[in-house]
Amino acid sequence: MTPAELNRWIKRTRALVDTSLRSSVPAAKTKPATIHRAMRYSLLSGGKRLRPLLCCAASEACGGTARLSLPAACAIEMVHAYSLIHDDLPCMDDDDLRRGKPTSHVVFGEGPAVLAGDALLTEAFALLAAAKPRAPYSAADLVAELARAAGSRGLIAGQVADLEAEGRKPSEPALYFIHAAKTGMLLRAALKLGAMCAGAPRAKVGSLDRFGFALGLAFQIQDDILDATQSAKMLGKSAGKDAAAGKMTFPALFGLPRSRELAARWTADAVAALRPLGLRGGTLRGLADLMLRREY
Ligand code: IPE
Ligand code: IPE
Ligand code: MG
Ligand code: MG
Ligand code: MG
Repeated sequence: MTPAELNRWIKRTRALVDTSLRSSVPAAKTKPATIHRAMRYSLLSGGKRLRPLLCCAASEACGGTARLSLPAACAIEMVHAYSLIHDDLPCMDDDDLRRGKPTSHVVFGEGPAVLAGDALLTEAFALLAAAKPRAPYSAADLVAELARAAGSRGLIAGQVADLEAEGRKPSEPALYFIHAAKTGMLLRAALKLGAMCAGAPRAKVGSLDRFGFALGLAFQIQDDILDATQSAKMLGKSAGKDAAAGKMTFPALFGLPRSRELAARWTADAVAALRPLGLRGGTLRGLADLMLRREY
């Protein structure tokens, strides 16, 4: 796949995802309007849409279509949006900028922001429960997979470890755990759900899971690097905040040059996991490469 083809694919698939997301949550005037306005504010405020793109690409790589995986792709983006609202709260990372706009709690207040996150998380599962994956998978399989990834042994485990590590001396095992859990679990789920929607055999789901594990690490290492090196204007979120908050990050433990090497190495590992997919892995390979080279 050429860079131009990949760009066209991203544009087309993102449009599909964005249209579908707009109808995945109640209209802004639905009562109580505050919560629906807040949900839509965070969900429809831009963002790279990487998780839904990975989900759609995984479906296509397994012989399915992007459309087939749209409910799963949207459910994952809703869980992601909830995780960002809560991540930015004063009791968590205390950030007032997200995707170039004031964060949910700044606009709507802390109580409504907590509830908007809760509602996005809950509605994500309602959407996923109505999905129609190809055999041998059922909607319940998809729900169980996303619940495991987002739950107290997945994303939440990573967020807890991230908070508890603040101000502590960085250690390599702790750092890998935080990144694999808080970021990796949802990326893995995006890929696995895409493959499951397409009815992929277990071995293919396994390959995509290995791709997602390595990609999740590379992605969060890059997020750490960007926090340390880019401006808030470029990122659309606060910059230099990890060091100020004493976060346990790759640059804090390894320095920037080694962190860059590790991000590249984990991306290479991710791409290697796509080998069993052959030519069909082209879009995923392209996305992995773009994720490593991204500047925000
Ligand atoms: C930000 O994720 C949170 C992390 C897990 C690093 P993204 O960088 O995918 O954020 P958006 O969705 O594009 O805003
Ligand atoms: C957030 O990690 C991960 C989740 C939201 C689960 P970060 O705290 O590093 O994300 P940013 O930098 O605020 O986007
Ligand atoms: Mg955080
Ligand atoms: Mg944060
Ligand atoms: Mg970060």
